[in-house]
Amino acid sequence: MSDAPILNLEPPSKLGKVAAVDTSRVLIAVENAVLLPRAAVGSLVAIQGATAQEYLIGMTERVTRQLREQTAQPDPLAPTTLATEVVPDDALRVVLLGTYRTIKGMNRNRFKRGADSFPQIDRDCFLIEGGNLQRFMSLLGKDLEEKQRLELGHFVLDQSAVAIANGDRFFQRHASILGSTGSGKSWCVSLILERAYARKYANIIVFDMHGEYSSLAKPTAPPGGTAPSPIAAQFKIAGPGDLDKPPPHALFLPYWLLNREEMLSMILDRSDQNAPNQASRFTLHVRALKEATLTDKKKDDVKATFTVDSPVPYTLADLLAKLTHDDTAKGIGVKGGEVKGEWEGRLTRFISRLEAKAEDRRYGFMFKPPAAALDYDWLAMQISSLLAPGADKPGIKVVDFSEVPSDVLPVVTGVFARLLYDVQFWMEPDKRTPFVFVCDEAHLYLPVREDANAVEKQALYSFERIAKEGRKYGVSLLVVSQRPSDVSRTILSQCNNFLILRLTNDQDQNVVRRLMPDSLAGVLDGLPLLDTGEALLLGDAILLPARIRLKRPTIEPLSQTRDFWQEWGEKAPDSAAVKAAVETLRRQSRSGSGSA
Ligand SMILES: Nc1ncnc2c1ncn2[C@@H]1O[C@H](COP(=O)(O)OP(=O)(O)O)[C@@H](O)[C@H]1O
Ligand SMILES: [Mg+2]
Repeated sequence: MSDAPILNLEPPSKLGKVAAVDTSRVLIAVENAVLLPRAAVGSLVAIQGATAQEYLIGMTERVTRQLREQTAQPDPLAPTTLATEVVPDDALRVVLLGTYRTIKGMNRNRFKRGADSFPQIDRDCFLIEGGNLQRFMSLLGKDLEEKQRLELGHFVLDQSAVAIANGDRFFQRHASILGSTGSGKSWCVSLILERAYARKYANIIVFDMHGEYSSLAKPTAPPGGTAPSPIAAQFKIAGPGDLDKPPPHALFLPYWLLNREEMLSMILDRSDQNAPNQASRFTLHVRALKEATLTDKKKDDVKATFTVDSPVPYTLADLLAKLTHDDTAKGIGVKGGEVKGEWEGRLTRFISRLEAKAEDRRYGFMFKPPAAALDYDWLAMQISSLLAPGADKPGIKVVDFSEVPSDVLPVVTGVFARLLYDVQFWMEPDKRTPFVFVCDEAHLYLPVREDANAVEKQALYSFERIAKEGRKYGVSLLVVSQRPSDVSRTILSQCNNFLILRLTNDQDQNVVRRLMPDSLAGVLDGLPLLDTGEALLLGDAILLPARIRLKRPTIEPLSQTRDFWQEWGEKAPDSAAVKAAVETLRRQSRSGSGSA
């Protein structure tokens, strides 16, 4: 780009003059009635700043025309009657977004966010359109180095300019993709993953609630074409069908990985009068069992400082035996006779709750891990396969949670995230590779704290910790949800970048509004009107909040919207498939049905 100023603000594009200014908004008295229709809501204007080189850039929020009666030239035929005429008062309300300078020191054509000064009354205001707009929009991503560029699509304001976010900033301090169902969130996630795939060592873990992103690991060929190469590795939290012969991509989260609170949130009934006893016996025994493992493995250094929460394997049967012993052992009275034991009968309900969970195959990924998962070295191997899978394996990992029972979903996502975060936390700082958790359908496991039950609180605790401290350790969240009003505010408010797609629900819009600075209220009013695949990109990853049309991902997620009307005309319901589904329902597992 040459050094010539990119904005040529000549009289034909002059709209009018500044008429009123407050801390965030400017009122422009429009003098050029021809330009007014082109200065629609959302269009950009430039207001002459403090010096000839400085312009304040703003976005139109409201366009008004008020009619006013004024005295006119007296009518020569009736000189004594008062003549009046109706004249329009045209005005624009503009919110200031940034400052553009034609020259700054040695640099030319600089744009920065934020207004450096307030415009003065009577300063000229110009509409940015045509060639000016094109050059201005392409200025926005210009300063980004090649390695920082995250290209997302095109600006709606000017289709010829590519919308480029700063990829570092986008992930550095958490981001969020919000939008009603069907607005294009999953496609947007696929696009971002695709972009990340171009980075040699991208490190992303996708929490896939519906098995939508498996197509990224196993792309299908378009009709008549060849399949694109996969961009992700597929994992799956082991379902009931994966327990007997676990496939290599099945993930287990054995009970011994859970810390005390996570385990108790699932097993302990806090309303039981014996709950404190149950919790304390549980803690004591788990600690003893972990210690025994460490003794057995001769891990004296670990043994010196480990806690009950340290992930050290032990067998569930041993724990149950110890608890059962407590529950049944008799005490010895002062006279040496048998009396009721100290814990006798107090743990019965706790034990049966634990046994019920341990027997339920849906919880198999936790309580029925393969023998290898009780090995001391198993954890390091498992975590390496996720955080450092090796040069020839994709750095993007899609983890399918679709067969995890919804009541434990929060614990599972929480434990999973906490473990990886903890490992990153304890890693030598200069050896860490930053990674991102993509939390799809976040409202399912990151609920608003007031509505959370014991299990959900555990997950919230883990994720809120990442939201608050993750930046320091290179762990970031990309929160995706169709119900922002049901997602933890603590987590959303830690997000610094937002891609907001069409959002129709009032409550959800209000939540989004509260997350944004007041000055953007006008920009957000357009949320219900966005087209599918259109988004507002707001935050520090882009210089100017902008409406963008997202590019289609090369590999689509399996989230295709069904064409009800069309399909009703073409496809008969399949009774064999219904029968097969009933069996799948009984099995609680898609594996083995032949149509996984
Ligand atoms: N960027 C896009 N361009 C064109 N169509 C899109 C785009 N994003 C989404 N769509 C359409 O919208 C449908 C729903 O998108 P999806 O990402 O599954 O929505 P969500 O995850 O928000 O429910 C897709 O099947 C596709 O037809
Ligand atoms: Mg989706």
